[in-house]
Amino acid sequence: MAFDVSKIREEFPILGRRVNNRPLVYFDSGATAQKPLAVIECVDRLMREYNANIHRGVHHLSGKMTEMYEEARETVRRFIGAEHREEVIFTAGATASINLVAAAWSDRYLHEGDNIVVSEMEHHSNIVPWQLAAQRKGAELRLLPFDDSGALCMEMLDSLIDERTRLVAVTEASNTLGTRPDLEPIVRKAHAVGAVVMVDGCQGIVHGGGRVADRGYDFYAFSGHKLYGPTGIGVLYGRRELLDAMPPYMGGGDMVDKVTFAKTTYAPLPLKYEAGTSNFIGAVGLAEAIRYVESIGMCAIEEHESQLLTAMTDRLSAIEGLRIYGTTADKCPIVSFTVEGTHPYDVGMILDKMGVAVRTGHHCAEPVMTHYGITGMVRASIGLYNTLEEVDVLANSIQRAVMMLK
Ligand code: ALA
Repeated sequence: MAFDVSKIREEFPILGRRVNNRPLVYFDSGATAQKPLAVIECVDRLMREYNANIHRGVHHLSGKMTEMYEEARETVRRFIGAEHREEVIFTAGATASINLVAAAWSDRYLHEGDNIVVSEMEHHSNIVPWQLAAQRKGAELRLLPFDDSGALCMEMLDSLIDERTRLVAVTEASNTLGTRPDLEPIVRKAHAVGAVVMVDGCQGIVHGGGRVADRGYDFYAFSGHKLYGPTGIGVLYGRRELLDAMPPYMGGGDMVDKVTFAKTTYAPLPLKYEAGTSNFIGAVGLAEAIRYVESIGMCAIEEHESQLLTAMTDRLSAIEGLRIYGTTADKCPIVSFTVEGTHPYDVGMILDKMGVAVRTGHHCAEPVMTHYGITGMVRASIGLYNTLEEVDVLANSIQRAVMMLK
């Protein structure tokens, strides 16, 4: 099927609305993607016709909902390329997934004097949980820096990763710079010393990421809402041996085998890590979102977005005083920038008046801002529904904003 962006746009009701009396131009998909009718209608149908708690009832609806929830797990397993269904844990989002690993894995595997290597371009969600774990355990946090182009300094891997390294935390695609680091040497080096790799797949999964087993990731986290799915649902992938050996994280219903006041035994994977009522509607909605992007074709989406990325980079680079951060060859479709003499919030607010939605600020990646000696950037992130005309609107609106501010 040919990629027809105008047809695709019809499937996203929100794109038809106006903001500040202008047609909405949505360039904030990196923060959260808009939802296609397939997902909206799926969630609506589940709530109208199927709502019942999973794994807890013998009645018809409970059985049906449980079946759909477990099918959603299988859809995710296939989509990310995991080997086993019990390696797919549903969580509230990527942050919850990483915190789960930082708590349960660290409890079992991190000791005083060990170290964790974290890249400088991580989102706070892949930094702070490791800081907390390192503080708790008396471990050291080591920094894998990036250069000014936004490329990780791979030549430092040999000096950073040693026999006391237990984990490397790295993104598959930076939410700020767009960089898609080559994770192969990182995984190889980490595994050579017996360390594991936690990959933040939030942006990556939308742009060619996943294939977790092939790529040798030990842990992988992403959120449904950036993949055109519902909010409040996310995934943790973990290698089965690791998840099996780790202690439980949250206690509660569904994660137990037998509970007595003397002793509790735990459910096998994946339920061991799914305490409480899971977001079953979100999980099935996420599976619908996966089917949606697959029906368009991940390669077709990537091709379209990469054309827009090139056009956006060209148009924005031509604006006087505009600096783009993240200029490596292999980028996901994110363009972060500042314009000399203007504040990112002011640019963002004026763009909003013109109907253009972008993200402004530190993008939950303050170390990236510190690297460049700034406090914030404007970020335009591209989704499968964006168009070349919208890139023009963005560029023209930035130009007007700059004229007004200078
Ligand atoms: N992590 C999301 C972003 O990059 C919210 O905007």
